Amino acid sequence: MEFERVQGVDIPKIGLGTWQLQGNTCYRAVLSALELGYRHLDTAEIYDNESEVGRAIADSRVARSELFLVTKVWTDHLAYPAVLRAARGSLKRLGVDQIDLYLVHWPKASMPIADTMQAMNELVEGGQVLRLGVSNFNVEQFEAAQSASSVKLFTNQVPFAVGRVDTSMLEYCQQNEVLLTAYSPLDRGRPVRRRPQRNLHADPSLPSSRTTPISSSRSRIRSANSHCFAERSSCRTIASKSMNGLAACPAAGLSAS
Ligand SMILES: NC(=O)c1ccc[n+]([C@@H]2O[C@H](COP(=O)([O-])OP(=O)(O)OC[C@H]3O[C@@H](n4cnc5c(N)ncnc54)[C@H](OP(=O)(O)O)[C@@H]3O)[C@@H](O)[C@H]2O)c1
Repeated sequence: MEFERVQGVDIPKIGLGTWQLQGNTCYRAVLSALELGYRHLDTAEIYDNESEVGRAIADSRVARSELFLVTKVWTDHLAYPAVLRAARGSLKRLGVDQIDLYLVHWPKASMPIADTMQAMNELVEGGQVLRLGVSNFNVEQFEAAQSASSVKLFTNQVPFAVGRVDTSMLEYCQQNEVLLTAYSPLDRGRPVRRRPQRNLHADPSLPSSRTTPISSSRSRIRSANSHCFAERSSCRTIASKSMNGLAACPAAGLSAS
């Protein structure tokens, strides 16, 4: 497993995203991923699958300390008391005592970010959450969130794939030692479907996030996973070319198979 060091913490570069994975499909995909070596999982309260993710974690033989578990608070719950309630709900559904990284899923103009960040900071002080971040924030919004938080923000999770690269956010992250977490790194399978023979793991035009395994099917999880693990040096080269070593993670999941 490759790691990305950010703010002194080693994060597994490859993550399994769980958006649109439901019920047993979700449970099986997460369990397969954990068996195959994934140690970074991405979910959210709005995905409505935290219980299945938690069940797969519990049934796997992976020690909690080895996992990097990310979840997100939805935009309906950004008021101070709602954030605290939402985090309690996520912890319960996931069946864990602590969330490794807790994200504000989307910015919401009508909600003062200071209220949200106050609650997020209290979750860190109380030990329910280890690190804080945001998702889908632009640079200005990220700076506002950081100004309202005494805890340094760890990541901004944003779409990052071929043809969808926000270089201003990437540069900002690189300059400020913030992890850019790439989501939908394979543009939801479009490049693969267009050119099925294309070797995504050796294609230097893709960002380092393409190292993510991107699938809910066990065979795709396995092939993407083993391919990447087998080609560590090429992964690293592409990562440093495209992102200077700072970045990348969640991906995967979608339709049942
Ligand atoms: N923070 C946010 O707002 C946000 C938004 C979107 C996503 N995310 C996170 O990022 C994760 C990944 O994003 P994503 O699911 O949008 O996109 P993605 O990882 O770019 O693509 C996943 C899609 O690619 C397909 N795929 C994978 N390998 C393939 C292959 N070899 N051939 C054809 N299709 C293939 C998968 O289908 P199969 O499952 O059928 O294999 C799935 O539909 C999500 O699960 C979520 O955790 C976060």
